[in-house]
Parts: sequence; structure tokens; C-alpha cells
Amino acid sequence: MKTKNIIVILLFVIQASIVRAQIDVPKSYSNIISKKHRSYIKNGNKKIKEPSKLAIKLFNHETKIGLLNIENAITASKTGFNFDFKNKELNGTMYYGLIPRNTKYPQPILFKTNSEIKEGKAHINIYPRFTGKYDILKWEKKGKGSLGYRIINEKGLILYDGRIDFNYDKTNEKLELAPTIIEGPFINKLKHNSVTISFKTQKPILATVIVDKNKFHDKLETKNHEILISNLEPSTEYKYTIIYGNHSQSYSFKTSPLEGTRSKFTFAYASDSRKGPGGGERNIYGANAYIVKKLMYAAIEKEAVFFQFSGDMIDGYLTNNDEMNLQYSNWKHATEHYGHYFPMYISMGNHEIIMKSYVSNVLSKKKRKMVLIDNFPYETHSAEALFAKNFVMPENGPTSEDNSKYDLNKESIDFPSYSENVYHYTYDNIAVIVLNSDYWYAPSLNREPATKIVGGNLHGYIMDNQLKWLENTIANFESNNNIDHVFVSQHTPAFPNGGHSKDDMWYNGNNEPRPWINNKPVDFGIIERRDQYLDILVNKSTKVRAILTGDEHNYNKMYISEKTNRYPENYDKAKVKLSRPIYQINNGAAGAPYYSQEVLPWSDDVSGFSTQNALVLIKVEGDNINVVVINPETFEELDRFEIK
Ligand SMILES: [Fe+2]
Repeated sequence: MKTKNIIVILLFVIQASIVRAQIDVPKSYSNIISKKHRSYIKNGNKKIKEPSKLAIKLFNHETKIGLLNIENAITASKTGFNFDFKNKELNGTMYYGLIPRNTKYPQPILFKTNSEIKEGKAHINIYPRFTGKYDILKWEKKGKGSLGYRIINEKGLILYDGRIDFNYDKTNEKLELAPTIIEGPFINKLKHNSVTISFKTQKPILATVIVDKNKFHDKLETKNHEILISNLEPSTEYKYTIIYGNHSQSYSFKTSPLEGTRSKFTFAYASDSRKGPGGGERNIYGANAYIVKKLMYAAIEKEAVFFQFSGDMIDGYLTNNDEMNLQYSNWKHATEHYGHYFPMYISMGNHEIIMKSYVSNVLSKKKRKMVLIDNFPYETHSAEALFAKNFVMPENGPTSEDNSKYDLNKESIDFPSYSENVYHYTYDNIAVIVLNSDYWYAPSLNREPATKIVGGNLHGYIMDNQLKWLENTIANFESNNNIDHVFVSQHTPAFPNGGHSKDDMWYNGNNEPRPWINNKPVDFGIIERRDQYLDILVNKSTKVRAILTGDEHNYNKMYISEKTNRYPENYDKAKVKLSRPIYQINNGAAGAPYYSQEVLPWSDDVSGFSTQNALVLIKVEGDNINVVVINPETFEELDRFEIK
């Protein structure tokens, strides 16, 4: 081959790799120009650019580390474990202790002294510290043990609660890291004859779950384990043991009854556990671990068979996947002791957003134009993708907003996936339909007009394909004789009552706000969409009993009927007639900062309003449904009423 030809081929390869490094902009967005690693918004003859790495640092990243810094930090030494978080700016304290596994909810028993984190490095001494009277595990003799540790930064913010399983070779006096379950195990997708057990290990391994002497294995070495346990009997309690390396953990679950058994059972509902004020565990970076632990424990204590948790688990609103994963991990650590035993169905709120951000002026807050949209590429960097990676939820929702009337490119995938963030499930004679009212969410849509030329969805708005899927799903349950009651849950209320009258499905009584796609607003505004949604739940269904919502950080219930005053003055659009009443049960009181009650046209139909942290317990027995609401910390009863 001639030298000239080789050069041409080389140039072609180099150019091709540059093109590949450039991120494709999804066709659901307009006016974004992708340029190498950073893109910008073409706003007339002005540009709004993605901030540089330095500017992103100015906006957030208070932790100075993400989840990977922690997962990759640990090495074993002769005397214990060394941590290198690979960030010299991180200083603080580590607390730690051995974890006895012979209890129902294994937790570290913290040692009386701590270790210093200095310039991103720390050491935890195991030998000889945890020997003699401090060896509660007899790890020296057994040759293995488990250690829990807590990372606190110099401001006193708890960043992470972690754990290490280790092995010990007594002859050679050598400690080594064992494969460790760093998240979970969690009970997922509980059915009458099967369940999926999920957990995360710090490195890829093959794990085994033993249930009733039957063994179930991973198919491939993995960090994210999802093991299907099948051939189970209905309404039966099973002990399960996870074998990973030479370590094991045992818990139990109970299968659901056959659909339509009409047994007596209780399920739990709450949302909004993002960080709260007060310090300590009320903010384990991003999550109000203190309240959410109390909620889960109270639910187990009150014999709830599953927990529906509808959004704003974490503080979120971040631009970095790894930092977001750290917050998700903290929420999972706060709830996992209870998640070993019963399923928690989780959905998305506005705070689960991972953003692509564009800023016109980094230095001046006043002059700054900030456009915030759902991150892309959607398959790896959208809020929806990151949520699906972090939780194991049913995969029976709609595909995406592709092929709706607003999708101009029917051939390509141009929207994020609904997989695992919109879904339904059943338990005995009830069905729960979980929606995502913060899908393809553009946080700046309603406050920064430049967002409209880019496109995005509005907080609180259920888009067309999702609404159609809701209608079809409700119709299926209408014709299912085993199902007597349907509950619909999404993060945002249809009728806000305290904190979100300026948005949700009201926007101060303004129908104008709506999603924008391809430089155009969609046909229906937020109040019209609320009515279309109510029409499906009320008029096209006989079984939907209540909407379970959050976003507003308080508890209240609302009796929605034809008599309810539902419209702004001089509303010129069609008004929906409601053929029967329905309840809205709002419980965003899981630990985020409170909102008090506001005066709205429908306030006469609202009762039980409370700013105490709250756990909603829904008790079903055949045709009857009763609701009891308690404070999960004091067990004080806050409300009690009958739905049916
Ligand atoms: Fe919210």
C-alpha cells in the first residue's frame, strides 16, 4: 500500500473516532448543537453552553467523591483496611464496627474510637483492635468477618455507610477482602409463585440463593445480581440464604396470595424522603435516612406486605451519574434492612432528575440563563436510565413517548425509556398502577423560556403515550374478576394542597404550562391533562379507589367528587363531569422539609392535614378498605378513615 493511501486511511480512522466521541443529540430535543464533548443551545444568535468541569464543581459536588471513589477505595493490609478515596480535598472521620449476622436486621456495632480521613486517605485497624474482648464475631477463629464503616466529612455531613466482608488466614496472619454485598439484598417483584432477589456486590461474582433446599444461580459473573426464585407456593413464608464466596446471609420473604383470594392484608405508602434539616442521619448525603428507616420499620411492625414509595427518595438534581449513584446507595442502605423481607415498589419524582445543564453566565447569578433538561444519551445518562439501573421494578409499562403524534422521527428512538419507572403490580385482589409524572422532566421549562426551544416535559404532566397506557391498563383490570380495587400512584398530586399550588396539576390555575416538543407546545395544557387523567380514573373505571401522591411534604386526604370546586375562575376549556367520588391520599411526609396547608378552590374537601412525618397504612379485606395514618417515630395516630 502506498504511503499516501495509508495516510488517507489513518486520517479517516482519526476523523471517525472524533465523530464517535461526539455525543448524538436525541431528536426529541431541538436547537442543541453537539460539538465534541460539550454541546450548546443555539438561542437566536446567542449560545448557551454546557458548563466546564470547573463550573459544574461550582454548582454542586459538595461530597468531593462519588460512589466509585468509595467502591474502589479499599485494600487490605496486614493490620486492617486502607482507604484511598483519590481526592486530596476530602478530610473527615470514619466510624466503624463489626457486624454480627445472627440478628434479624444486621447492623455494625460501632467501636468507641474512630479514624481520621486526611487528604482522602484513612486506615481502619482490625488487628489487634478487634481481638480479645472486642471480637464479637470470633473472626480470628472463624477466619472471616464483616465490618461496617461510616464516612463523615469535615463539615459533619455523613457521606456513606459502607461494609466490608473479609477473610483471615490465621497461619499467615493475613487479612483479605472477600466478595461483599454492598447493597441489598432486596425482595422484588413478589408474586404468588415467584420472587426476584436483587443485590449488588463490589466486584463481579457468581452468587447463589438457596430457598427450600433449591439452588438458584447467577447466569454470569456480575456486580448487579437479579436472581429469579420460581416454583413457589402462594402465601408461604420462605427462608433464603445468599451464598457469595465463603460468606452467606439469611433472611425471609412471604409469597403473595393467589390473585383474588380476598384475604386480609395491609400495605404501606409514603414518598419524599430526600434530605431534611436537623443534621445527623436526617441527611446521609441526599436522603433522610433517619425518617425513612423509621417508616420501613413501622411498616414491617404493622405487618405491611409491601411498601409503595412514590418519588423524591433523594435530593438529586445533579449532573454527575456517580454522585447520583452515591445518593441512591444511601437511600438503599437506609431501607435495605427492611427490604430484605418485603418488596418496596419505588417510583420517580422530580428530584430523581439527572440533568444536562446549559448556563449562559457562570459568574453572575443575576444575568445567568440556566437551561436544565433530562440528560442524554438517554440509554445511559437519562434520569430514567439511572433509576432503572438502581432499582429492580416490574417491566410492564409503556415503551416511551416515541411514536406519539409529536414524535417527528418514527424510525428512531428519540425519548427516554419508561422501563421500570412506569409499571403495575397486583397483590391478592388489588392492583397498583405506578405512573411517572416527572418523565423527560425539564426542570427549567416553566422558569427559563429558552428551555422551550429545546423541548422537555413539565413537572406534573403525564404525557400522551403514558396516558394511553394508563387507560388500557385500567381497562384490563376492569375486566379482571380477581381484582376488586385499583390504586394509582404518581409523585405529584392532581390537586395540590400545601407547597405546590404553583405547579403539579394546577400551576396557580393556569392551563398554559405544558410540554414543548420540536419548538411547539403540545395540544393540551396541564389542567386539561388533569381532567383527561381524572376522566380515566373516575369515569372509565369502577375500581380505582384512590390516587396515592406526594411532592408536597405533608399528609392529607381529599375527597374528590363532582361537587368539588376544581377550576380557576373564567376557565374556558371543557370541564369533566365526575360520575363517582375518589380519594386523593397525599403523603410526602417521609422526611423532606415541610409545607403547610394553602387555600385552594377545593380546600373544603381536604381533611386530616398534618406536617408530622407520616406512614399511610391501607388495610384491605375483601370489599373493604380502611386507612390508618401514623407517625412512624412515635406511632401516634394522625388519621383514620374508611374508603369502602
Ligand atoms: Fe417532588
